[in-house]
Amino acid sequence: MSVSITRPLSVDDLPGPGGWPVLGNLPQMPPAALHRRFDSWADEFGPVYRLNVAGKRVIVVSDPELNKEILRNRPGGFRRQSSIESIMDEMGSNGLFSLEGESWRRRRKLAMPAFNAAHLRGFHPTLETITERLRRRWERQAPGDIRAELTRYTVDVTAKLTFDYDINTIEQSGDVIQRHLELIFPIMNRRLGMPFPYWRYVKLPQDRALDKALAALREDLTGVIARARAALPERPTNFIEALLLAQDGQESFTDEELFAEALTILIAGQDTTSNATAWLLYHLAGNPDVQQRIREEVAEIPSVLDRQPYLEAVAAESMRLQPTTPLLAMEAIGDTEIGGIQIPAGTWVIVNVQHAGVQARNFSDPLTFDPERWLGNPHGNHRPDASIPFGSGPRFCPGRGLAMLEIKSVAAMVCRTFDISLPANGEKPRDQFHFAVIPIGMRLELQRRSGD
Ligand code: HEM
Repeated sequence: MSVSITRPLSVDDLPGPGGWPVLGNLPQMPPAALHRRFDSWADEFGPVYRLNVAGKRVIVVSDPELNKEILRNRPGGFRRQSSIESIMDEMGSNGLFSLEGESWRRRRKLAMPAFNAAHLRGFHPTLETITERLRRRWERQAPGDIRAELTRYTVDVTAKLTFDYDINTIEQSGDVIQRHLELIFPIMNRRLGMPFPYWRYVKLPQDRALDKALAALREDLTGVIARARAALPERPTNFIEALLLAQDGQESFTDEELFAEALTILIAGQDTTSNATAWLLYHLAGNPDVQQRIREEVAEIPSVLDRQPYLEAVAAESMRLQPTTPLLAMEAIGDTEIGGIQIPAGTWVIVNVQHAGVQARNFSDPLTFDPERWLGNPHGNHRPDASIPFGSGPRFCPGRGLAMLEIKSVAAMVCRTFDISLPANGEKPRDQFHFAVIPIGMRLELQRRSGD
């Protein structure tokens, strides 16, 4: 569906919920359920509505066409919310995700070759080793909190691929670097949600712990960078080497820039991938027939480096129902117009990715888990471009290829080795918004398959 508007509207003409004096709609926006609240307002007020967040103008868009129009109009028309850049900058992590304008354009061009298919092939042995560790762990002991288990997996993969550091949280715990990494994401996330940057004036214990963690990671990474610069292999086995190989003689990375990109990859690649994998396993647990189809496919096409159409359809369907980053927060750089609505410079524009993916006008029977709809000849409505879990336009997620390899590796390993089911009387996990959507209390049962 697209919004048909005949004359330019201003943001104030848009429908939206009534709010409180001064605070506007802020008290109606519970941080952990923000995505649900934005969805229910979209149901009530339509695909474009306005909010007042403590005096700040915000519009929320969930129309697939307008979503793409906004995301395409970067870096010129829209940017990520400005607080993201300053927070990442002071952490020394102003990389691909948070850079803007020409700096982003230059960095994107320079960094993209590091994510290419040839390099992913080079990274694959690391994935195989770590997936095998996860299999052995789950054979030894039934997994508890699935999300926590999968975070061990993605931490191990990203630490090895960025830092060249075999942290191995799957088989051991208590590693110093692990403790540092665990600190960074929640504190960064908390800072992004803070209305006032208190830490620039007063440092609480958690802020001092963050500084310490960043200093330790920087020291470790300095060694990795020095080793990679001294002897750059032809085939990179980690992102630092791949980034250095991407330099083209005219443009090159400084050590500071490499640190920022490594930290960006660590931050962008962990929770997103572990949560997406957890939701996928949840859907598998409720659908034994889907597990069987995956088993048959991976018996025929064993390598995750090859196209595995059914497994990829399962991943697409799981991320349609539960995109791990359901809300993409943008800010208008100058006065602009979208869908006939005049948007003043500085307006926050929230692209609601999740809502469009679960509307019957875009996908028939939208709340049913049905991978078949991605395999050609779907029944009824099927609008693939309404489901954009990896974003869209020039800032589309460069880690999609690696994320898909991780998701497919775990799903294939689980289906080969186990029967996976929902626990009897198990409650549906709650989904909480923390920048990524996290399944709280997700427990699944894994039974070793006989004869394997
Ligand atoms: C299932 C897992 C993942 C999901 C759902 C995901 C989703 C996203 C989304 C929605 C964006 C914003 C795109 C936009 O603004 O249009 C993004 C950006 C980004 N992602 Fe991912 N991501 C995942 C995994 C990864 C991994 C594994 C890496 C690194 C290896 C990564 C690195 C990045 C980077 C660097 C950006 C910023 C790109 C830019 O602004 O130019 N992501 N991701």
